[in-house]
Amino acid sequence: MNPTSPPLKNTPPKFHSHSLTERQRIIQEIIPLSEEDMQLLRSPGYIPIEKFDLFSENIIGTFHLPYSIATNFRINQKDYLIPMVSEESSVIAAASHGAKIALKSGGFISDPIDPVMIGQIQILGIPNQEDINEIMKYISAHKQSLLEYMNKQDPKLVSVGGGALDITIREIQTTKEKMLILHVMVNVKDAMGANIVNTMVERLSTHLKGKIPGRINLRIISNLATHRIAKARAEFDQTLLGGSKIVDNIIDAYEYACADPYRASTHNKGIMNGIDAVAIATGNDYRALEAGAHAYASLKGTYQPLTSFSKNEKGNLIGEIEIPLAMGIIGGMTTQHPLAQLSLKILGVKSAEELCQITAAVGLAQNLAALRALANEGIQQGHMKLHNRKFIKKS
Ligand code: MEV
Repeated sequence: MNPTSPPLKNTPPKFHSHSLTERQRIIQEIIPLSEEDMQLLRSPGYIPIEKFDLFSENIIGTFHLPYSIATNFRINQKDYLIPMVSEESSVIAAASHGAKIALKSGGFISDPIDPVMIGQIQILGIPNQEDINEIMKYISAHKQSLLEYMNKQDPKLVSVGGGALDITIREIQTTKEKMLILHVMVNVKDAMGANIVNTMVERLSTHLKGKIPGRINLRIISNLATHRIAKARAEFDQTLLGGSKIVDNIIDAYEYACADPYRASTHNKGIMNGIDAVAIATGNDYRALEAGAHAYASLKGTYQPLTSFSKNEKGNLIGEIEIPLAMGIIGGMTTQHPLAQLSLKILGVKSAEELCQITAAVGLAQNLAALRALANEGIQQGHMKLHNRKFIKKS
């Protein structure tokens, strides 16, 4: 990590102190944004209601949330402005603050991520071991042709380097009976992947009918995306954190979360404050991310924090995050929603992998900032200051 970081390329100093219209103009100049983009920001009713009528059912209106920019983010040597959608006071300020502390040591390092998702097929009605063996034999003998079959279903995905990669089999014992679960691993490239994977497992299930014993029931993606794990880390300067006592307090807070699921739940909620806000801004499925994150946090048998903290030889805090992130830059709401498109433009991301790398760093910054406040003055002081500022402004 670089101890002498050059100044950020994109973030104007004291961005938060400008008026709303000035902030819009500043971002317009930096990105740069078109007049159409500016209309999206200036007038919440700019997108015709008819467009939303296509997204869901029984629509009678739209519901607006604040759209903000978190600053100070340098991730893998690249500077980003981060669009975030959150109604919660101090979330954006906290993320920007966490990123500012990391910046002193060069910002965040976020590892490469393979965009591989898992599709599951449930096979039941196989009480005899011979039937189980027969299914296992069939899948391993025909694996290549089954993968080819699935890939024929999505030539577009294959043409960009994605597609079904592997099929594995898990045997699970339920209270009722033994079941076999097929896991189909699919490289979904720049998509979140739910539609791609669900189509593949549905088609594969139809293809398998009559070829294997038992009955196929569910065919659906798993949101526990253990092949799409984002890992990011940063060094947080002890002086900027408020001194060595705060560093130790943050480590103690981390130890507390490791040992107590009641605390780990709130610790992880702080991480998801940042992750969900980026997910919503980019049109991604934040419920899928939540489900995956909490399942991953429980994988070791007890619910654990998704970040970890330690101290290095300089006395600085080292923070790390490890979380499944299934996020896309194409398909669904990401492509359809003009503001999601605007977010991708502001981020300047070129791949889903880059978006996941960024989002992991935001989760870490968010968590660090919350822990720093909790380990120091407490969360309410800063929180209420921003909350009151908003209230006073309104009245
Ligand atoms: C509030 O939205 C999030 C926090 O509770 C997270 C935490 O306690 O670590 C402040």
